[in-house]
Amino acid sequence: MNDLDRFYSDRASKMRKSVIRELLKITQDPEIISFAGGLPNPKSFPIEDLEGVTQDVYRRYGRTALQYGTTQGLLDLRKAIAERAEKEGIEATDENIIIFSGSQQALDTVGKMFLNPGDSALVGLPSYLGGINAFRSYESNLIGIPLDKDGMRLDILEETIQKLIKDEILPKFIYVIPTFQNPAGVIMPESRRKELIDIANEYDLIIVEDDPYSKLRFDGSSVKPIKAFDEEGRVIYMSTFSKILSPGFRLAWTIASEDLTRRMEICKQALDLCTNTFIQFIVNEFMRRGSFDLHIMKICEMYKPKRDLMINSMKKYFPKGYVCHKPKGGLFAWVTLPEGIDTEKMFLDALNEKVAYVYGKAFCVDGSCGHSMRLNFSYSRDEQIDEGMKRLGRVIEKNL
Ligand SMILES: Cc1ncc(COP(=O)(O)O)c(C=O)c1O
Repeated sequence: MNDLDRFYSDRASKMRKSVIRELLKITQDPEIISFAGGLPNPKSFPIEDLEGVTQDVYRRYGRTALQYGTTQGLLDLRKAIAERAEKEGIEATDENIIIFSGSQQALDTVGKMFLNPGDSALVGLPSYLGGINAFRSYESNLIGIPLDKDGMRLDILEETIQKLIKDEILPKFIYVIPTFQNPAGVIMPESRRKELIDIANEYDLIIVEDDPYSKLRFDGSSVKPIKAFDEEGRVIYMSTFSKILSPGFRLAWTIASEDLTRRMEICKQALDLCTNTFIQFIVNEFMRRGSFDLHIMKICEMYKPKRDLMINSMKKYFPKGYVCHKPKGGLFAWVTLPEGIDTEKMFLDALNEKVAYVYGKAFCVDGSCGHSMRLNFSYSRDEQIDEGMKRLGRVIEKNL
């Protein structure tokens, strides 16, 4: 067939490729040191423990674990998640939880549930590209709110909401990644989290709180999730096993009011009927054995020196004039170069030097952040981090 365009829906025609997914294809070349992906370090996967758990699940629960499950997810796993959430100040029972095939699916479900074509939602400048792409696929209008070192700027958020209301536009939700934000690495303090809830309450908005990274903390003390301050049931919290166990498992969860949970469940039903039952059994069994927190601690011990190495190598090799606040956790360092450098253009030079990153523009719905870039420190080996920063330093020097 030659002309397929007439068949495609408006929605499918408007969908864009993920810049990161495309970059990952280019950076498959083994000679390239890539800081582009958001990949956990494969050495962090607890292979032996999971082997034992998998055999046990086969033996003890095989006939149920290989069967369809409910859309909401395995009851025992939901109960275990609710228990952990309680410890963080989130009041939840298994009825508030849905197990998703990755947070990405939860984000898509949020888009499906709330966004009609032309509807508006508020996202960070910068923000997670997968979230942006999921919401855009519902033909929505995404409005960017700049971040500072404490996350989303709430003065600008409120101003923007007021302007929209004047134009008779009421946005549907605010999408935030409050802890070790992807890509900026910043953390929103408790006072700002409470203020954000106040804004959502005042203007009657939903908050989508995406939290894949809060457990990957290397310094400082933890901050309660926004959901912990949600008295009106307007926060949809989501987290994932991707960065603390395995992204290949594709397992994540949402916590929300029962009303929102029921609606999400219906929206998810059409996607996959249920999340992979077998993997839910495995993760539940892994959690039940009680070494999950220890496992997370080990991951943090593995990533903290990698973060330090990256930050120190930057100091060693990057020409003066760049800004990078040391992230206290997560997987990413966000670097802002002197104005005038276009990190998208610079990417070709980087590839020539066999080093890769994601340019800042990819994360910004308004095309800003043109002189920033995101660097992942969890995946590469230590010697690659040092050598990669050296190469990147040369590339930056050339583009000054
Ligand atoms: C902020 C954020 N949300 C969601 C995801 C997707 O996670 P999952 O693997 O659970 O789909 C990622 C992955 O990098 C992320 O950084």
